[in-house]
Amino acid sequence: MKSAFRAPSNIALVKYWGKYGVQLPSKPSISFTLDSCATETTVELTDRPGISVELDGEDTPGFVPKIAQFVERIAPRHPWIGDYGIRVQTHNTFPHSSGIASSASGMSALALCVVDLAQKLGHAVGDPKQEASILARLGSGSACRSLYGGLVVWGETPSVPGSAQEFGTPYPHKLNEVFRSYRDVVALVDVGQKAVSSTAGHQLMERHPFRTQRFAQAHDHLAALGPILASGDLDAFMELVELEALTLHGLMMSSSPSYILMRPQTLRIIEAIRGFRLESGIPICFTLDAGANVHILFPEQAEQSAMEFVIDHVQPWCKDGRMIADRVGQGPVPLHE
Ligand code: DP6
Repeated sequence: MKSAFRAPSNIALVKYWGKYGVQLPSKPSISFTLDSCATETTVELTDRPGISVELDGEDTPGFVPKIAQFVERIAPRHPWIGDYGIRVQTHNTFPHSSGIASSASGMSALALCVVDLAQKLGHAVGDPKQEASILARLGSGSACRSLYGGLVVWGETPSVPGSAQEFGTPYPHKLNEVFRSYRDVVALVDVGQKAVSSTAGHQLMERHPFRTQRFAQAHDHLAALGPILASGDLDAFMELVELEALTLHGLMMSSSPSYILMRPQTLRIIEAIRGFRLESGIPICFTLDAGANVHILFPEQAEQSAMEFVIDHVQPWCKDGRMIADRVGQGPVPLHE
């Protein structure tokens, strides 16, 4: 028995940074679901016990421990899974070792396959999307935001009714059209292994001196985004999104031990974006995930001038000139073999 899904990556606007218990977020986050950065995964249940993983058709034993941990975490909700061996075949649409985390798209694709297989076996799963979001979260926190298109919130917060700790929910409030087709060009600065993993970074938040203020700030930022997303106030949007990105990295720099994931090129690109915005009035801004790459965000309407700027002034700072052009996407889809 087989199941196959394509699930996208996502980029957070308000960042998830800090967790407790079994992958529960210390505060709320919200992300744009992406489109072309995605993972396509097939899961096959076999009679032979054990887990095998193939990446791009090649046996990849290095991925087995991560999948084994995922299976262990979801087993209390899906005890049937212990009766089978699991063969995972997976492929990322973005280049391997691009420095783009494949955990969000990978874990959500895997979770969708598991929920689909559970249904095929006749097990009740409740709301399948919600169940997949719960399972994806157990694999990697940010993955639970990759189950829906558009904007997705994770973590209970008073300004977003229906928001929950255990799963992501589609942003429920009024959304200005401009945000439905937003662009994200990922400038690849550092394509190697990160010096400090996200898992280690989350852990450092447990004893972080600014944790209380940071957690309160995330709730405030979610609330402040409401009117911004409704009205399409891009100046306010860009200010908040950049503040979130720099706060995330500020938290890393003020962790104990402290660390820096930005590279000199990251700062060059940030400076170039801010300079160009000031001079041209074009609404282009940046965000960062837990790495050196820069996500460059702008509305579809600004695409031509934004791309000219990016090619002339950002690409030279990218590793081998590498960039990925993406946009807000519609969420995962089943694949038919
Ligand atoms: C900086 O979801 O990768 O991208 O739950 O340990 O797998 P784990 O962490 P992960 O953390 C991502 C953090 C972030 C911000 C975000 O996506 O909200």
